[in-house]
Amino acid sequence: MAEDLNIVKGSKLDQYQSLIPQITALLEGENDQIANLANICGALKEQFNFLWVGFYLIKDDELVLGPFQGPVACTRIKKGQGVCGTSWEQAKTIIVPDVEAFPGHIACSSLSRSEIVIPLIHFGSVFAVLDVDSAELNCFDETDNKFLAQIVSLIKIVREK
Ligand code: SME
Repeated sequence: MAEDLNIVKGSKLDQYQSLIPQITALLEGENDQIANLANICGALKEQFNFLWVGFYLIKDDELVLGPFQGPVACTRIKKGQGVCGTSWEQAKTIIVPDVEAFPGHIACSSLSRSEIVIPLIHFGSVFAVLDVDSAELNCFDETDNKFLAQIVSLIKIVREK
């Protein structure tokens, strides 16, 4: 079976609505977490052409770089550090319209201008974060929060197995 994504044009809402069933199908029947995280990154990058899409996984009380698409990135982030470490500490999504205005932002790429970080939570504890960076200011809003949270919730189901 060909695994080509059907890439659509249109509003952000149109794009997420087209992408979510395709990601659901890609993950269906696959229990390997790394494989699924990798395909989520690929699908988001291909549809939206974000600067950087990737996961950091909590290992030994640090965030460690996981599957991603985009320029090379820093490998380890401590709890409370940067946008990712803050999202982990607070167990909530953080939308950063202008990275230069976020105290402690970690600039893995000088091209990043705005960012969203979504925590992946299982039985009340964060086990990873999804980080998406854009080369445009003010790229992310509540639509991204809603749909990206829906996408990462597909991972929790796999993790329970
Ligand atoms: N900007 C993030 C670091 C990760 S990179 O953007 C890929 C942060 O401040 O946590």
